[in-house]
Amino acid sequence: MAKLKWGMIGGGEGSQIGPAHRLGALADGKFEFTAAALDHRAEIGRDYAQRLGIVKDRAYGDWQEMLAGEKSRTDRIDLVTVATPNATHFEITKSFLEAGFNVLCEKPMTMTVEEGEDIVRIAQASGKICAVNYCYSAYPMVRQARAMVQAGELGQPRLVVTNFAHGHHADATDADNPRLRWRYDPALAGVSGQFADCGIHALHMASFICDDDVTTLSADFVSTIPSRVLEDDAMVNFRMGRGTVGRLWTSSVAVGRQHGFDIQIFGETGGLRWASEQPNQLIYTPVGGRTQIIEKGEAGLCDDAMRLSRVPIAHPEGFPLAVANIYCDLADAINGEARDALPSATDGLRSMMAVHTAVKSTKANGAWMDARPPMFR
Ligand code: NAI
Repeated sequence: MAKLKWGMIGGGEGSQIGPAHRLGALADGKFEFTAAALDHRAEIGRDYAQRLGIVKDRAYGDWQEMLAGEKSRTDRIDLVTVATPNATHFEITKSFLEAGFNVLCEKPMTMTVEEGEDIVRIAQASGKICAVNYCYSAYPMVRQARAMVQAGELGQPRLVVTNFAHGHHADATDADNPRLRWRYDPALAGVSGQFADCGIHALHMASFICDDDVTTLSADFVSTIPSRVLEDDAMVNFRMGRGTVGRLWTSSVAVGRQHGFDIQIFGETGGLRWASEQPNQLIYTPVGGRTQIIEKGEAGLCDDAMRLSRVPIAHPEGFPLAVANIYCDLADAINGEARDALPSATDGLRSMMAVHTAVKSTKANGAWMDARPPMFR
């Protein structure tokens, strides 16, 4: 099958997430890197794109130029990735969907719930794919966890506990460093700092594995470093549609924790644990039985866990290949195969609703609130 043509906006030289997208998109030979507007500085972006092998007339200075250029081509790109800072996601994603492109947007998909609903409607009307990069959901053993819950191996999940708590913004003397400061500045980051940055990965993971949606939540946001306007620590309690109780802690001041993302699901007949720092292992305990380690690459895993593992048992694959799994599913979906696990615009909208509901709940001293997007009530 011919390779699909892939374009990228943002993710320029030195960016945090750009390399993971390039490694991921190109890992399996399903995409070729064809067009890009990589940087907010036009010439620097054009230069870097050409150094990465993009031909001159498709190394664009900005996304508007890229949209105009690609729209008019007969060999236009099949997929564009939006990996720019958060406040630009809505405008770029909307414009490319409306012009008939498939889009992979970084999280958070938008800044407001209304924008999120717009994207869901536009994606539906266009018939194009709008995926959101909740890439942790594409680790093979996370797919295995979801398959085990769906197969009833845990019974009904009673409780889900998830953390995404790291300590990399804990130094108060560095809090005014421009690289950190914008994340806690409402003008640049929106209504939420740490929860919108990391917490929504954990919330998406809870919904993804339990195959259920968050319905209500109660939040406690706090800025532990007083100069920060937005929260650097948050505790969010939530409930899901089938009654599962959820507990989520996210923090950027948890000194000593590195990546700090893990999840436990406690069901009627068994429990599961997965952690992003040991992504090849899923820890399973049946009620009354011994704890077992289920290993990526061993026999008997679900189809998705087998399909998305590339190297033999005990060899680490890691983060860029989790992103590659998102691109594998995207390539399949573009070619007409059903890939239901691919995080969608609806997931992006649900996250945005959770963020805004959590901010309101915090202001109301942790009052429980409806966290379902208005269009799904
Ligand atoms: P960054 O600040 O390291 O890099 C942003 C890049 O976008 C830079 O190269 C910049 O020049 C470019 N850029 C900015 N505005 C642009 C524009 N209008 N047009 C073209 N290029 C533009 O940011 P980082 O950390 O890479 O984050 C980017 C996005 O990825 C954010 O939305 C962030 O939330 C998300 N992210 C997602 C992760 C995940 O696990 N899914 C992990 C890290 C970031």
